Amino acid sequence: MTTLDYRIPGQATASPSTPPPAEPPRSVDEVLAQSQVESVLAELDRDLIGLKPVKQRIRDIAALLVIDRLRQQFGLQAQAPSLHMCFTGNPGTGKTTVALRMAQILHRLGYVRKGHLVAVTRDDLVGQYIGHTAPKTREVLKKAMGGVLFIDEAYYLYRPENERDYGQEAIEILLQVMENQRDDLVVILAGYKARMDTFFQSNPGLNSRIAHHIDFPDYQPAELLEIGERMLAAQNYEFGTGAREAFDEYLALRIRQPHFANARSVRNALDRARLRQASRLYAQRERALTREDLTTIEAADIRASRVFATSDATNH
Ligand SMILES: Nc1ncnc2c1ncn2[C@@H]1O[C@H](COP(=O)(O)OP(=O)(O)OP(=O)(O)O)[C@@H](O)[C@H]1O
Ligand SMILES: [Mg+2]
Repeated sequence: MTTLDYRIPGQATASPSTPPPAEPPRSVDEVLAQSQVESVLAELDRDLIGLKPVKQRIRDIAALLVIDRLRQQFGLQAQAPSLHMCFTGNPGTGKTTVALRMAQILHRLGYVRKGHLVAVTRDDLVGQYIGHTAPKTREVLKKAMGGVLFIDEAYYLYRPENERDYGQEAIEILLQVMENQRDDLVVILAGYKARMDTFFQSNPGLNSRIAHHIDFPDYQPAELLEIGERMLAAQNYEFGTGAREAFDEYLALRIRQPHFANARSVRNALDRARLRQASRLYAQRERALTREDLTTIEAADIRASRVFATSDATNH
């Protein structure tokens, strides 16, 4: 189980440029200014490549919450909107990253108290022995309360082949909490689309409590290349002459190999390129290294990958 928190110490309060709210907000602009949700949406647009349909759905959800806030000012009766979600898509398509941003938006709009994200899988919720599951699940829910509970590969909670599987117990507790404490906990289920669909067919109760199904498409090669460049820049590296083209070729080959995991594979490939760059520089013991030497990934650092050498390589 991992807990991720976007809040940086000292950033919890509104920036000095935003005057303290004198009156309850009446316009969309006022809600946005007070909640600073615009900046999160803008960051989402800027930091994440592609994902157009995903970004649009998040804007729609933000709009729903903003209008809900304004309705509250007029005392208009409404149940807290159901915000439990399902993120489907292949590995490395940005599901965890987007869930973290979602937690941030929900927090800024006052929907959840804390806005942290607790990421779990079946093993964090389900025990091995009778009587172990309920306390485990409740402990996780307690940690996630006030934020987002992200359940990766949620379909593993349900094992139809095993009649006495404890996963069912976890699902039942989740269902109760999703219904009763939906004003302070948002559950996001994530996993492969086809498996998630089957899971929902067997668990209609869960399906009916999920208001938003968001599909994360695989990235296009050009998007992967751009993601790679962003990742490098974020770590003060850049492609040297011909390295970008080499990486483009690398991606074209890698996509067709088994276990390709979108942006995650890009990250892994660049990590290995950095290792090769380091070894290359390390070997030049006597040379004074310039800033450029230290920040440049050369074409050779990419082309040394096994992806170029063999057709049956899986991970390199
Ligand atoms: N659209 C994007 N733009 C830039 N970076 C991205 C994008 N999508 C994903 N990444 C980066 O790729 C990596 C994998 O993304 P993430 O963990 O969110 O994917 P995931 O769908 O949760 O994958 P998994 O199924 O493997 O858990 C992260 O380092 C993330 O920052
Ligand atoms: Mg993930």
